[in-house]
Amino acid sequence: MATVLTQLAPSITNLIRLDHTHVAATFHQYETTLSDRLKRGIVDSVCLSLETHAQLEEEIFYPVLRLVFDNDLMRKSPVEHDEMRTLIARLRQMVTTDPMFDESFFELMRLVMHHVADEESQLLPAAERLIPEQLQDMGARFAKRRFEMMASRGGEYAGSFARSLSPRMLMSTATTLLNGGFLMVRHGPMARPWTRRSAF
Ligand SMILES: [Fe+2]
Ligand SMILES: [Fe+2]
Repeated sequence: MATVLTQLAPSITNLIRLDHTHVAATFHQYETTLSDRLKRGIVDSVCLSLETHAQLEEEIFYPVLRLVFDNDLMRKSPVEHDEMRTLIARLRQMVTTDPMFDESFFELMRLVMHHVADEESQLLPAAERLIPEQLQDMGARFAKRRFEMMASRGGEYAGSFARSLSPRMLMSTATTLLNGGFLMVRHGPMARPWTRRSAF
């Protein structure tokens, strides 16, 4: 069973790319004119995602890649994670009305985007070239470890996610859920016999 799950698992390089895409999308929601509540929610959500991602890379990805790809970029990547953690700690101490709050968040964004560009243009292709046979097994470990980490900080994830939604996004999420529920009732297992569509 474990082997089947490993074979179905996405590669670790694609999981890392997905994380990068997610955090970039959250960065792009941030505007200086947003309410304090939305700013706090977006910043908390970004910080938590980055902490989780950096720890996963350091536990699972970097040690294996370093064995076959040991260079300056490989050595500076954990250092950049530590710079990111310093900025995250500073942002958590600040109130959103602090005159330096926006600039500190944009500084984090610049650091992360630069780091992501290095990983996507050099580290991930190197892993795909040098250790292709290990990528799915590492992907399975990455996903399992992430689940454990999220379970231990579930309240923080739920809280920052809820606060990072604007009223427009909340409305869109609610509409999607309502539509999904309506379709389930209309066509799904809860549908009454006379409301089900004929297969013919
Ligand atoms: Fe990284
Ligand atoms: Fe990364």
